[in-house]
This record gives sequence, structure tokens and C-alpha cells, in this order.
Amino acid sequence: MGAAKRIRTNPRELATDVLADVDLGDMVESIDIAGPGFLNIRLKPSFLSEQLTKTTLLETVAEPKRIVVDYSSPNLAKEMHVGHLRSTIIGDAVARTLELVGHDVIRQNHIGDWGTAFGRLLAYLDEVGDGFAQNAELRNIEKLYVEASSRFESDSAFADRSRAMVLALQSHDADAMAKWEHFMALAQQHMSEIYAKLDVSLRPEHTRGESSYNADIVPLIEDLRKQNDVLVESDGALCIFMPQFKNKDGEIQPMIVQKSDGGYLYHTTDLAALRYRFDSLHADRVLYFTDARQTLHFEMLFAASRLANLVEPSVTLEHHPFGKVLGKDGKPLKSRSGDNIVLRDLLDQAVNRASSLIRKKNPGLGKTQHEEVARAVAIGAVKYADLSKNRLHDYTFDWDEMLAFDGNTAPYLQYAYARISGIFEKGNIDSSECTEPPQLDMEVERQLAVHLLRFQEVIEQVTADAKPHYLCTYLYELTVRFMRFYEQCPILSEEGSIRAGRLTLCSRVAATLEIGLGALGIRVLARM
Ligand code: ARG
Repeated sequence: MGAAKRIRTNPRELATDVLADVDLGDMVESIDIAGPGFLNIRLKPSFLSEQLTKTTLLETVAEPKRIVVDYSSPNLAKEMHVGHLRSTIIGDAVARTLELVGHDVIRQNHIGDWGTAFGRLLAYLDEVGDGFAQNAELRNIEKLYVEASSRFESDSAFADRSRAMVLALQSHDADAMAKWEHFMALAQQHMSEIYAKLDVSLRPEHTRGESSYNADIVPLIEDLRKQNDVLVESDGALCIFMPQFKNKDGEIQPMIVQKSDGGYLYHTTDLAALRYRFDSLHADRVLYFTDARQTLHFEMLFAASRLANLVEPSVTLEHHPFGKVLGKDGKPLKSRSGDNIVLRDLLDQAVNRASSLIRKKNPGLGKTQHEEVARAVAIGAVKYADLSKNRLHDYTFDWDEMLAFDGNTAPYLQYAYARISGIFEKGNIDSSECTEPPQLDMEVERQLAVHLLRFQEVIEQVTADAKPHYLCTYLYELTVRFMRFYEQCPILSEEGSIRAGRLTLCSRVAATLEIGLGALGIRVLARM
């Protein structure tokens, strides 16, 4: 249809011409022209069957790229809360999917670890005094944040000490820096705990926070100055003016690189980070996952880095925004007291809910297994609820919906996997040995086979657009097709090559679910 439009011809006529010329050899049972000019191709079962047994599940890309993925990146003057969930989950799924097809992925956790908020945290830690290192209570980092903020509001002497601490940090005072480092170690421990609970592949070595660019900023500004017309002084601030960024009144809105008081901004650090990613990490492609409110920031960042030639033109810079997490009332999700919901609590609640659900569904599971299943279901449900929606939209956080055992949910897919494992267990069969070409006589088998063969294509779409919901939709449809097949086609009670061929289908579905869910950061379970 698209081609006909481009060459300004009638799509049905073009379809007829294509049909006259096309030679698809032995692949095709029939090709028909339908409707306004669609070509419907019906593949031969023998072709499908051969493909299923011949081709590997997934091929790696011919030209792997070095891809930097910037995600999670919380501001650590606060405990990690629900606002950090989407970047963490979506970024991790995309990073895993890129790796799956052979790209060289470099994760970057661009944490907010510098700035005024750290003054009050360190001033507070100072007060706690000796206990600083050992005090067990300090491991409860949440308390720390809350107490430091309330002291700042209520105690002006404390507020002064906090401000003095900021200055000490900026001048790299040794004592202040030691405290800051200690605090960052606590913060890293907190992040690691959350990532472990959430099964997210970020490790401490991926942390490269804003502070790590402190020393790069002065040389960056020097270099920008050397380039004609990039940096312009305006009211004492150093700015980059780009005509495409105008405010409502049509005036150019500059990107401020250095404020008139000498301070630097979020932009400035990001320019330095981008330069590092190109010069030192040798990125071919850089992906950023933040909420949609930062869209203008990234548009300016990318435009400025092109203008100043910070990266080569061949490098792709991509901001992948996402919408908000809403409560069932349609407003941004908050706790009952109106605060941000901290991730630690949210994840614990997920596990508790999944645990009672699993206890009802399968009371016979042993304690260890029960815990393992509850955890995989809980984390899978939270992640999948987010990943299965087009990330550009807001999504509604709903426990009952995400933990449902039917519909487009993680438990539904995990359950299908467990069911297939059950078939292999019952028949005492090793699924890796199932290589008999399936016969595909039944329409449900054929439909399942066609869908199975589209896995590669879907994975490639995810890596191109950084949209994991393509993969979720694919896996859900795969599961629906598998269930239809399972209802209509006996497997273990069949004999000979029909049985063996159907087992091949089962084995391929299980492998696709395992790899596909794995790319989303979700575990499969042999038993549920
Ligand atoms: N710390 C930022 C925030 O919490 C996100 C950082 C995203 N990455 C970046 N390179 N700007 O909003």
C-alpha cells in the first residue's frame, strides 16, 4: 500500500504486477490479493516446520554497536521512590534486549550525587556523631532523609550548618569529602538493595554520578570558549543560543552552561557526561530513559553537543521518555499520607500480595519454593505491568490487574511456561532433545508456528525503538496461541512423529518465553 502511494499507482494494480513477478519457490501455499490491494501470503506447513527446526531462536546482529544506556539515575538526596521505577525497569529491559542480540552495552547510572541537598544530609550525619559508621539505625536510610529534611525546616542553626557544608563540599574540603564519600557508600548500598530486590542488572560499577564530572567541567567550558560562536555571555552567564528553542514570545531561550554566580547546572554536567561517553566509552549510540518532563532538556543537550561537535555526527543520541505512574484515582501515585511511595515498601508489598495469592493457588509448595515463586511472580508482575504498555503514555498502577493469572500479565506468561515444564516433567522428556519437525496439520499449530518465527523481528523492533511493549504483546499473543494449541491438540497421549513434533512446538514456545521474559528482566518458573 505504501509503495503504491509513493509511485502514485493503484494499489490493486501494483499488487497484480507484484504477483505476476514474484517467485517464492517452495515457501508458499497461496498468495491472494485482498481488499484494496493487500497481498495475503499463506506459508506452507513444510516450510514453517523446516524453519522451526533449522533456524536458531535468535541471531545476533552482523555489526554490533557500542551502546551506552543511561537509566535509573536517581537523585540520591532522597530514598528511591516510585518515581524511579519506570526508568529503572524500562532501561533495564532495553539494555538486556540489546545485549541479547550481541550489542556491547555500557550501563550508566547517572545518579544525582552532588548539590545543595547533600549539605543537609551531611550536616545531619555530623550530628549523629560517632555512630556515623556503625550505628545500625543509619542503615535505615529512609529515616535519615526524613529527619535531615525536617531539621532543616525547623532549626535555623542546623540550616546554617547545612549551607556551610555545601560550601565545604564545593571547595573539596577533606573532612566534608570524607563524609560525603561515606554517605555515598550508604546510598550505593541502598541502591544495590533495591536493584537486587527488583532483579535489575545495575551494579556499583555502572554508577557514574554527576559528581564524577566535577573536574571535567572547567576544561569543557574552556574548549567551548575556543569554538567560535558557541558560547555567548549574557547577563554574566555563559549561554548557548540555538534558534530552534524559542519561548512563547518568540525569543530564543538559551541553554545556560554557567550561571552568573559561577555555578553549573544539570545541563552542564550532561554535556560533560556526553563528551565522556563519546571520547572515553566510544559510544555509537547513547540512550537516555527519563520521564517526559525532561524532553526539552535532552533536545537542548543533543542540539548543543552537535553544535559544539562534542560527538561525531554518526553517533545517535536518543531520549526515550515515558509517562507518569498513576493511582487508580487517575492522579500520580502517592502513599495514603500523600508522600512518594518508597520502592522498598512497594516491592515488599508486591511480594506479600503474590505470596498470599500463591498460597491459595498452590498450597502444596514447600517453603523455599513458595518464597521463590512469590518473589518471581511479584517482581515479574510489577515490571510487566509497566513494560507492557506503550511507555509514552501514563499508566495506572493496579495490584489486582498486574497479579491476575489471566490477561496480558506476567503471571499468565509465567504460568504457561510452568505448564510446559509440567508436560516435559510428566513425560520424562528433555526439552532440548525435541528436534522432530512438527507436522502442523491443525490450524492452531500453524498459527503458533507462524508466530514463533516472528521472534527475531520483534526483538529487532525493540532494539530499534526502545519500546519493550512490542515484546510483551508478542509474548502474550504467543501464550494465547499456545493455550489454544494445548486445548485442541493432545500431546503426550499422541504417538510417534505427531507427538514428537508437538513436543518440538512446546519446547520452542518454552525457550521463546524464557528468553523473551529474560530480556524483560522477568524470571520463569518450572513450577508455580
Ligand atoms: N537524576 C535525574 C533525575 O532524577 C535523571 C538523570 C538522567 N540522566 C541524565 N544523563 N541526565 O531526574
